[in-house]
Amino acid sequence: MELNESEKLKEVRENLIAHAKKSALYKNVEATNGHIVFGRGSDEAKVLFIGEAPGFSENKEGKPFVGRSGKLLGGWVKELCLSEADYAVMNVVPIIPLTSEGKIRAPTEDEINYFLPLTKKMMEKIAPKIIVPLGRSAGSIFSKSLALGEVKRYDGYKLFFIYHPAYYLRNGADGINDLRNLKKLLKEIENEEGSKKQLTLDKF
Ligand code: URA
Repeated sequence: MELNESEKLKEVRENLIAHAKKSALYKNVEATNGHIVFGRGSDEAKVLFIGEAPGFSENKEGKPFVGRSGKLLGGWVKELCLSEADYAVMNVVPIIPLTSEGKIRAPTEDEINYFLPLTKKMMEKIAPKIIVPLGRSAGSIFSKSLALGEVKRYDGYKLFFIYHPAYYLRNGADGINDLRNLKKLLKEIENEEGSKKQLTLDKF
């Protein structure tokens, strides 16, 4: 089920929207006639990509990663052979962060922490096998020292860290090479699930 229609995520979605409306960032939504950006994708996702905050395209459409970074992320999803049911996308901050001149900026640590309890609730409800923080802002909620391509364990999840798609775009790269360990991890999980299924079948 799509995150925005999911019964399982209804309460956290409503809480997140109420919480966002009380945040100092909400004035950006009002000033731009934009949106609070929840998530998109499957509520049964095995891979959850977590980004930073909406950009102008996302603010306009109300969905995360629909602009240039989203296009690159779409290429990664294809490379990883993930189906629509296999993944979801969200941000650590659901509102576009803007400077006083109306330019996009990175969210502050306080802004990330303000939404952290709800970010964690979303992770818990979706319960993915793998979480992929995209870049420093998302990585910071898990560890101060994540290295590119590193796989770690965190609270029962497997964590795979990669730079933000915007970083690759800035450097004229596609990031595909840096997905190697994530591909391996997905294969391992597939194999584990396959052998579990086989064990259950063997019982009959
Ligand atoms: N960058 C992000 O971190 N999130 C988005 O939703 C879009 C761009």
